[in-house]
Amino acid sequence: MKYLTFALTKGRLAAKTMETLEKIGITCEEMKDKKSRKLIFVNEEKKLKFFLAKGTDVPTYVDYGAADIGIVGRDTLMEEGRKLFEVLDLGFGACRMCVCGPPAAKELLKSGRQIRVASKYPNIAKDYFYNKKHQTVEIIKLNGSIELAPIVGLSEVIVDIVETGSTLKENGLVILEEICPLSARMVVNQVSMRMENERIRELITGLNAVL
Ligand code: PRP
Repeated sequence: MKYLTFALTKGRLAAKTMETLEKIGITCEEMKDKKSRKLIFVNEEKKLKFFLAKGTDVPTYVDYGAADIGIVGRDTLMEEGRKLFEVLDLGFGACRMCVCGPPAAKELLKSGRQIRVASKYPNIAKDYFYNKKHQTVEIIKLNGSIELAPIVGLSEVIVDIVETGSTLKENGLVILEEICPLSARMVVNQVSMRMENERIRELITGLNAVL
């Protein structure tokens, strides 16, 4: 039997994924060693392989077939825009993609004036402002600590993830518009879906029962 390979988003999402898989009898003992720097793990009995990748790279591994299955946030899937089968909403990692800024930016947003939007998600920001709102904006790509941008005057607003809302609050920013809800998703490579259909179906059915 061929290995079924999972690309997991390293960090909290991978830990949550393994917790969920354990509920359907899939375990990987060697992944539990917190000190380990290992990136790839095997369950010989069930012929499964798991590797830990950076979230933004998970869709790439699955698209090229280096992994059959990926677990990744919906934000990353939307931003990467690859052709994968999204088969399951795992529910965890729930948060929202929002337009945020200082309270005063609410009027500015409505005015339709050209504003600058900073984001780690330029494609999501572009799609929202251009295709949904039909509003021309300047998008500035950043790589983290996005909340800084409107505070230091780099942009008027940001497009970013809001989970608890405490980062916004502690920096005097608010949610101005909600773009969409987010959570962890299971995606499958298009060829794997055909070749390994039975095993993947069984996995989806099992997970559906415990989610
Ligand atoms: C994310 C996101 C927000 C924050 C939201 O950043 O970009 O900054 O979490 O969470 P909260 O609503 O619970 O405060 P992350 O910590 O992933 O780091 P980053 O700033 O490097 O993107």
